Amino acid sequence: MSIDIRFADAPLGHEIRGVDLSQSIEDATFAEIEAAYDRYGVIVFRDQTLTPDQQIAFSKRFGPLDRYVLERYNLVTHPDIFVVSNVIENGKPIGLADAGRYWHTDMWVKPIPPRGSMLYALEVPVRDDGEPLGDTYFSSMSAAYDALPDWLRERIEGRKAVYSARKNVEYRIANAPVDPATGELSEEAKEGMRERLANMTPEITHALVKHHPRTGRKCIYYSEGAISHIIGLDEKTSDETLEALRQHVLQPRFIYRHRWRIGDLVMWDNCSCIHKATGDFDLPLRRRMHRTTLSASVAV
Ligand SMILES: [Fe+2]
Repeated sequence: MSIDIRFADAPLGHEIRGVDLSQSIEDATFAEIEAAYDRYGVIVFRDQTLTPDQQIAFSKRFGPLDRYVLERYNLVTHPDIFVVSNVIENGKPIGLADAGRYWHTDMWVKPIPPRGSMLYALEVPVRDDGEPLGDTYFSSMSAAYDALPDWLRERIEGRKAVYSARKNVEYRIANAPVDPATGELSEEAKEGMRERLANMTPEITHALVKHHPRTGRKCIYYSEGAISHIIGLDEKTSDETLEALRQHVLQPRFIYRHRWRIGDLVMWDNCSCIHKATGDFDLPLRRRMHRTTLSASVAV
């Protein structure tokens, strides 16, 4: 069978239709799905109904899985599933509510970050007028690489950047949504940031341009508010280059906005795209998602 792709009005975020992920998928069809995932970086499946076992089974077709570092956010019965949610049960959050509300690629704290993730929507916050909230944005880092102006390509090609956990946590606290009652970041949010900082390697180095490990295509490797400096450039040039890079990779022509519906499963690749969650909702509007993480190498 040949898969049916409905192309998004962006270089990534294309919808694959006619596949029921709860069933065992034949090898030829799976190969087409994997090729689309590798090629585009973000693919979308709508109207799925998946148990944790079924999501894990589909995820494992791509290879071994990684577990999220904060165990308490993983499903007790299925620790390969990491819960992204703002729901509180018995006084405790059932998942991680702040799922990366800044442009990033997952787990840049690791020398070899995971290949990618898939996120399956069980509950989606919806406004009174029916508009979904909590959109996720994706930007294609392979398309952004291809469109680099010559001067910026020459500036970053072959160079490495230092990522700083402290800088990132400070950036995220400064940019996090505040408690409307106090005008400050909630203690819980601050504690969550500090806890993650404690689990992070203080500094790590990544190439600014990576080859995608499966397609060989060049991608810009970037996360906002995480890079302290580019090695080999003076501070002023490094700062100017990072700002130019930020403006380049966030151009609307590279970006797909995913508007969630219950039953969506979205997969993204950590080398060829960056993503950002939005936190434009709060309880009693509930969001609950199950994430699996594909272990594999992103070229370093
Ligand atoms: Fe993320």
